[in-house]
Amino acid sequence: MSDKTPAIRHYLQFSDFTADDYAYVFARAALIKKKFKAYEKHQPLVDRTLAMIFEKASTRTRVSFEAGMYQLGGSVVHLTTGDSQLGRAEPIEDSAKVISRMVDLVMIRTYEQTKIEAFAAHSRVPVINGLTNEFHPCQILADIFTFIEQRGSIAGKTVAWVGDGNNMANTWLQASEILGFKVHVSTPSGYEVDQSIAGIRSAESYKVFKDPMEACRGADLVTTDVWTSMGYEAENEARRAAFAEWCVDEEMMRVAHPDALFMHCLPAHRGEEVQAEVIDGPQSVVWDEAENRLHAQKALMEFLLLGRQTN
Ligand code: CP
Ligand code: NVA
Repeated sequence: MSDKTPAIRHYLQFSDFTADDYAYVFARAALIKKKFKAYEKHQPLVDRTLAMIFEKASTRTRVSFEAGMYQLGGSVVHLTTGDSQLGRAEPIEDSAKVISRMVDLVMIRTYEQTKIEAFAAHSRVPVINGLTNEFHPCQILADIFTFIEQRGSIAGKTVAWVGDGNNMANTWLQASEILGFKVHVSTPSGYEVDQSIAGIRSAESYKVFKDPMEACRGADLVTTDVWTSMGYEAENEARRAAFAEWCVDEEMMRVAHPDALFMHCLPAHRGEEVQAEVIDGPQSVVWDEAENRLHAQKALMEFLLLGRQTN
C-alpha cells in the first residue's frame, strides 16, 4: 500500500451512496452472483486484506465478509474486543491509524455510530459499517438487492416495518429517501423511529401507524426484526411486554399486497416478532436475503476499493 492517502469513500450509513451508486452496485452484485453460481472465478482483490472488527456477535456478517473477501482473491483478519487491545481501552483513533496502515479495507460492528465515525476519520482505508446501534446498511443493501431480484425496482413500492424503531428501521428510512419508496412504520409507543437519529431530511418517505395491521395493508414487503437488539438486553422483559402485539402473523400478510414478500435480517425468534408460519411460509425470502449478504457485499468491497468496473 502506498504511504500517500488516496481519496477514500467509507460506507458508514446508507446515505453515503447515491441512487446512481446503488444502481451500479446492485447490477454488479447480480453479475458477481451469476459468476459465483457458475463456479467462475472473480478475483479482482488479489493481495488485498480486509480487517473485520467485531464488538458484538455475528454469524451472517462474519461469514459473508470473510467468505466474500477470500472469493474475491483477498484475505481477512478477524478481531474482537476480547482478543485485541480494543477491549483494553486503546483509543479508537490509535487503533484506526495502526490497523489502516496494515490492511486495505476495514469492516466494523460496534455500538455507537460515533465510534465508527471516529475510526473512519483516522483511517487511511475505506471503512464499512457491519452494524451499529443506529444503522445496518449492509443488511439493507442485501435486502433491496433481494427485492429487486424478486420483484424488480423498489421505487414507488411500500415497505411495512413492524416492530422496534431500531438500526434496521433507521436504515430502511434512509434507503426510502434515496431510492424513492415509502415505509409504513408501526412500533409500540416508546420505541418509535426518531427522524434525527435516522438521519433523514424529511418525513415525506415514511408514514407512522399505531396499528401494525394498518401498516401492512397493501404493502409490497413486510419486514421486522428482533424485539431486543444487541446491547439492549437489560430491557428484555420490558420489551417483551411492550412488543406483544407486534408479531408479524398470517393475518398481517393477508392484508398486504397478494404478491408481498416477507423479510427478516435474522437471527429470528419464531413466536415473538414473527410467526413460524410466516417466516417459514411461501412469501418469506429470508434465506435468499441472507445469501445475498455475500453477493451484495462482494460488490460493495470491490466498489470501495476499485470503483466502477466494466469487465
Ligand atoms: N443479519 C445479521 O447481520 O446477522 P448476524 O448478526 O448474524 O451478522
Ligand atoms: N437489530 C438487530 C439486528 C441483528 C442483525 C441488532 O442490532 O441486534
